[in-house]
Amino acid sequence: MWDGTKQLAHKIGAEISRLSPDTRVKVFNVSKTNKNDIMTEVFKSRAIAVGSPTVGRNILSSVGGWLEFLKELKFKKKKAAVFGCYGWSGESPQVVRQKLTDAGFEVVEPEIKCNWIPEEDATGKTAEAAKAILNKEQGEANISPAL
Ligand SMILES: Cc1cc2nc3c(=O)[nH]c(=O)nc-3n(C[C@H](O)[C@H](O)[C@H](O)COP(=O)(O)O)c2cc1C
Repeated sequence: MWDGTKQLAHKIGAEISRLSPDTRVKVFNVSKTNKNDIMTEVFKSRAIAVGSPTVGRNILSSVGGWLEFLKELKFKKKKAAVFGCYGWSGESPQVVRQKLTDAGFEVVEPEIKCNWIPEEDATGKTAEAAKAILNKEQGEANISPAL
């Protein structure tokens, strides 16, 4: 809605590039990029990170719809990280986590959750989550932000 979650997506991407310069990182907005094109990138990737701000104690419908599509494709042996900004209750990372788990992804810790706007205190968690999805392997990591 106001780009906080988008900023987190770019922070995670930058952290992955810093930790593993050979890893290709791509950032998508599921409400703007063709959903099939993003799915093709997921197919080619070892790991993804999916985020959404919290809206009505839930996630954006665009992200929810995309995650339903993801589940239908029954991917296996892929990792995922979750992230999102919130105002007062902050359910979105947990909702995304459950949907990714249902879709067969191994969802890593920690989830990255920011109150209103991403601050510097998100950086530590961003680095940890980036390390967890990289698992010190070389490969691709696509980041799918949720705006
Ligand atoms: C219509 C609407 C509903 C919201 N509902 C919630 C909510 O249920 N719980 C919550 O923690 N924050 C809620 N928020 C606050 C947003 O999650 C918060 O502003 C967040 O920083 C937005 O992230 P963004 O910058 O990525 O859009 C809501 C905001 C709007 C506009």
